[in-house]
Amino acid sequence: MDVLDAVKERRSFTFFESDRTIPDNRLRELIELANLAPSSFNLQPWRVVVVQEPERKRVLRTYALDQSKVEEASAVLIIVADPDVEVNLNSMLNSWEELGYIKKPSRATITDMVRRRYGSEGSCERKIFAAKNAALFAMSLMLVARGLGLETHAIDGFDEGPMKKAFAIPDDKLVPMLIAVGYPRQDALLLPRAFRRSLEDFVSFESYDAGKIPG
Ligand SMILES: Cc1cc2nc3c(=O)[nH]c(=O)nc-3n(C[C@H](O)[C@H](O)[C@H](O)COP(=O)(O)O)c2cc1C
Repeated sequence: MDVLDAVKERRSFTFFESDRTIPDNRLRELIELANLAPSSFNLQPWRVVVVQEPERKRVLRTYALDQSKVEEASAVLIIVADPDVEVNLNSMLNSWEELGYIKKPSRATITDMVRRRYGSEGSCERKIFAAKNAALFAMSLMLVARGLGLETHAIDGFDEGPMKKAFAIPDDKLVPMLIAVGYPRQDALLLPRAFRRSLEDFVSFESYDAGKIPG
């Protein structure tokens, strides 16, 4: 599927065929392709908890405002954002060094840059770093899903603290969203896409408070 078609056709599906499962190789492909998303310093600060056992989906639903799509989707992916900027740093630097992006002495400089940019453990900057990159991963995942003939629904209506406990997600991690993934129910009507603002409402040129889009 053309990427523009994926963007145009992606919608938030509410009704899923609850008796269908996503084949393992398809699920792998979905996550592998989404994992090509860009990230700050290529640090990929995301993890995914795949919830597909009916009983686990039922539990997840109780933490997600009882939204039925959580139980009906074939799988719900808990997108976890990891503020630990160091966890993938060495693997990333190894790769950059091996591929010739950098020479060995630059490793210390980059490590220092990362630490200065995102502050110390628990900093607000680290949380923003994690959430913004995990959100890009999540968006990629939704588009890839469309390309693979699957539908999705992003969800941030959930009770994060207790949900993290129930799914053994450590306290210091963030959960920017869940993504329900599955096959649309054919008998359910998806309403037309709701309004999108016109570009005049949110695009300016050269400065936030000036410039109009030409034409
Ligand atoms: C981060 C995020 C969280 C969302 N959380 C919920 C949610 O908890 N429940 C829900 O019904 N829809 C949720 N949505 C879906 C939005 O309502 C939906 O994307 C929006 O209305 C636009 O519709 P469309 O995705 O079909 O274009 C969420 C979307 C995003 C991106």
